[in-house]
Amino acid sequence: MIGGGYVGLVSGACFAEFGNDVAVVEADPAKLAALQEGRIPIFEPGLDRLVTENVAAGRLSFGSDIAAAVADAEAVFIAVGTPSRRGDGHADLSYVYAAAEQVARALRGYTVIVTKSTVPVGTGRRIAQIVRDTRPDLEFDVASNPEFLREGSAIGDFMRPDRVVIGTESERAREVMRRLYRPLFLIEAPILFTGLETAELTKYAANSFLAMKITFINEIADLCERVGADVHDVARGIGLDGRIGRKFLHPGPGFGGSCFPKDTLALVRIAQDAGAAARLVETVVAVNDARKAGMAMRVIAACGGNIRGRTIAVLGLTFKPETDDMRDSPSIPIVARLVEDGATVRAFDPEGTEQARPLLPGAVQYCQDAIDAATGADALVVVTEWNEFRNLAPAKLRAAMRGNVVVDLRNVYDPVAMRAEGFVYHSIGRPSTAE
Ligand code: UDX
Repeated sequence: MIGGGYVGLVSGACFAEFGNDVAVVEADPAKLAALQEGRIPIFEPGLDRLVTENVAAGRLSFGSDIAAAVADAEAVFIAVGTPSRRGDGHADLSYVYAAAEQVARALRGYTVIVTKSTVPVGTGRRIAQIVRDTRPDLEFDVASNPEFLREGSAIGDFMRPDRVVIGTESERAREVMRRLYRPLFLIEAPILFTGLETAELTKYAANSFLAMKITFINEIADLCERVGADVHDVARGIGLDGRIGRKFLHPGPGFGGSCFPKDTLALVRIAQDAGAAARLVETVVAVNDARKAGMAMRVIAACGGNIRGRTIAVLGLTFKPETDDMRDSPSIPIVARLVEDGATVRAFDPEGTEQARPLLPGAVQYCQDAIDAATGADALVVVTEWNEFRNLAPAKLRAAMRGNVVVDLRNVYDPVAMRAEGFVYHSIGRPSTAE
């Protein structure tokens, strides 16, 4: 497994749990040292235990030497980062290609070289070319095996997937991949064998569709507010239609994270390069960006149009709960704007504070818990729906705060209960209790 980042670490640990011998190669010395000492550099429920047990069982190891790790491997997974290239939004593949070349140099016999990182259509074939150029003598196949892991439930997603997609043109490679995933055959998880380009595109299509679903319900939520409808009932009313499906229809401040923003943008670029149009997805990108940028305005409006000198509590900073990941989190533009407009921001996040610090203005005050953040606040904003915020007693919040404005961007509270407690409560896509 080349790359001990999020995807590499989760996939590596899970493949080891399946009974395979896995060597994870990590280039960053600090990350590697942490892994070798049994410290997991990311927050992912269950990962700690899985890594510890599989290291103890001798099936999982960490190192920095690609050659040593891949020499006798049946399959080598490339799971290095593919950040958005500054300027043009294309995925930056330099780490992927560098890894492919190093792997090619070190291999000793037939191996399947698999991309696990999300890579543009055509990358698998390009890797094959690099390997052929580097080692004309080598017997190998390439495969694309995109991950569909959600942060916060990645282990479950890997162990009990809705499906596994494997793109390769070689039966020999398919046989190797079947062996690696054998436990999934027992639980009858659908394993789809496709061509290389098909697997590569499937990943982008899946993420773009999900991003589109969220953006759609967000737009409907805005409409609900205008016409006095309740978005949750609309979501249920449409979601019970099996063709639409109930999941991923929760309105909010716009999607963030390491995948949707990057993958939607990449799909647009891929389409442009291929001379095709991706106008729906292009619109999703624009609408979502505008939504995240505009969310602070809701808070400002709820505070009567001026927040200078006000104290605002922000609950949740990460892009979603059960992660410490701040990438493209809606909290970034929201908090920036609140501070810029003169508010004092008191923030609390259960896991993301350290990751948040460099991304948020220096003036933000980081608090011990939700009640600490709410103490003396004129208004309170829920940005991320951590469970511990759901369970807060409205009376306790009300007692801690100076003001009574709550802007709930994740609809975690019950409007009736909030109103009963004396809050002026705004949420997304539901009638507000301001009147
Ligand atoms: C996502 C995909 O789900 C996963 O399959 C893919 O491999 C990687 O990207 P992840 O980014 O971890 O996973 O988070 P996810 O739970 O999908 O949420 C993404 C974003 O959408 C978050 O910002 C979340 O708050 C938002 N979201 C999700 C909504 O606003 N409403 C929803 O109904 C669902």
